[in-house]
Amino acid sequence: MPDVPRREIAVLFVCLGNICRSPTAHGVFEQMVIKQGLNQHIRVDSAGTGDWHLGKQPDSRTIAAGQQRGYDLSHLRARQVAAVDFDLFDYVLAMDGQNLSNLQLLQPDHFTGTLSLFLPYGQGALDEVPDPYSGGAEGFEQVLDMVEQASQGLLRHLREDVLNDASSS
Ligand code: 4NP
Repeated sequence: MPDVPRREIAVLFVCLGNICRSPTAHGVFEQMVIKQGLNQHIRVDSAGTGDWHLGKQPDSRTIAAGQQRGYDLSHLRARQVAAVDFDLFDYVLAMDGQNLSNLQLLQPDHFTGTLSLFLPYGQGALDEVPDPYSGGAEGFEQVLDMVEQASQGLLRHLREDVLNDASSS
């Protein structure tokens, strides 16, 4: 391994229900972190701004789409984001503007981390991950495409700018 990063960074992905977009980001990003040997240094979780699906597995379409690309999302369980999450996470990353607005209302004044949209970490044209819940299977593929691209950008950012790992590419 190259230079050993010095500290732990905690990343929380947030959407509305925590059964489609944010668990996808959770599973995809966590797998990238593990593959790059950084799981001692980067902690990953996800949550929803809503409370309809607490304790539930991701949507079956989310699990199926993830499985086709080699991501096991079946062990994840939905939970609702809370103000205390801002004490536990350095990066709170929202899937869309509505999620971001709700998080801004919850954000304590003393939070010194990053609260932002997730997608701009990638190179794509869009800033928001569209909600696939009421659409067809192609929406879940689109979520995966966007999340994979943004996850690569996020991991590059964390390695280079936060962990100061000059070997990242
Ligand atoms: P998510 O998708 O925010 O990506 O998990 C949704 C899941 C459930 C609902 C809306 C969006 N819902 O209205 O129950």
